[in-house]
Amino acid sequence: MSIFNEVMPQYPMMPAAYRDIPTEEMERRVWEIKQKHGDALLIPGHHYQRDEVVQFADMTGDSLELARLSAQNTKARHIVFCGVHFMAETCDILTQPHQKVILPDMRAGCSMADMANMTQTEVAWRLLTEQVGDSILPLTYVNSTAEIKAFVGRHGGATVTSSNARQVISWALKQRKRILFLPDQHLGRNTAFQLGIPLDEMAVWDPYAQRLLTDRDAEDIRIILWKGHCSVHEKFTTAQIEETKRLDPEVRVIVHPECTHDVVIAADDAGSTKYIIDRINEAPPGSKWSVGTEMNLVRRLAAQHPEQQIVSLNPDLCPCLTMNRIDLPHLLWSLECIDRGEPTGIIQVPQAIAEDAKSALERMFEHV
Ligand code: 13P
Ligand code: SF4
Repeated sequence: MSIFNEVMPQYPMMPAAYRDIPTEEMERRVWEIKQKHGDALLIPGHHYQRDEVVQFADMTGDSLELARLSAQNTKARHIVFCGVHFMAETCDILTQPHQKVILPDMRAGCSMADMANMTQTEVAWRLLTEQVGDSILPLTYVNSTAEIKAFVGRHGGATVTSSNARQVISWALKQRKRILFLPDQHLGRNTAFQLGIPLDEMAVWDPYAQRLLTDRDAEDIRIILWKGHCSVHEKFTTAQIEETKRLDPEVRVIVHPECTHDVVIAADDAGSTKYIIDRINEAPPGSKWSVGTEMNLVRRLAAQHPEQQIVSLNPDLCPCLTMNRIDLPHLLWSLECIDRGEPTGIIQVPQAIAEDAKSALERMFEHV
């Protein structure tokens, strides 16, 4: 028995024999099941997924697009979500009760989403409201658990994605004097800074120390940033940007706003995965890019645009290990379980949590 089964015994693991199936046979079996199930089966795929999985996706997108498109689909009975756990939860919250959302490997979590739990958030909220009263609106990046989204929804706040963080933070600052931004300090800081808020009006909340990491009075702080980060995007550095520019000043550096503030400021451009894709798609032949985001996307863009020079900003590359857990054997296994009438890896958010989380998601959709 694996460690995973010891920890989460309710989730069966893919039988090891799937690893021995030749690739062409796996691909043939996936295509057959897709054909057989037609519209009753939907496979959304995040831009960070492996090519071996993306080739079967009915739609690809960033977090925002996948959330929107899932909400629009009412036909699929089974939605096999190729992405990470929080995305599948969001999909379950936004889709209809007759639709089952399935994650092909339950180990596909997100280390950033795991950096804020409910106990820590309740404590933070109590301690912060004791200091500044009813002046905080909570916002959470969609890269968070359904419980955190529900907490935010219950307190009148909204979710954000990297595509719409600007609009949602602008809206939030018209509602209350300050915001609590969970769980990615970098997206929160980078976006608030873009909106003209000085860094000294932002402070990090440390959930372990249970305090604001600032010498300033809490009353002076407008943006409270949860001490969370993406372990993939933190691997990009200003030294890499300097070296890239030293070797070839013509290269444009474009990064995701989950990178640190220094990196975003030093880069030529920054934006969500969709933003990065759009900039490269519209660039003329001969353009040179150094891209600071997950490596599956960078590799795919390089393959799609041989007329441009596209490399990763980090020469050692940056894979998201949890995104990469969804591979062809897991996709096939998951589809064959559905085909046998025994779906496994079902993501079902408890109704009370789903209702509050949905209100946070709907508030986001109202403001983008
Ligand atoms: P977007 O898809 O919103 O750009 O986010 C990237 C990401 O880290 C997803 O986990
Ligand atoms: Fe989470 Fe970062 Fe992976 Fe996105 S890239 S799923 S934020 S760990």
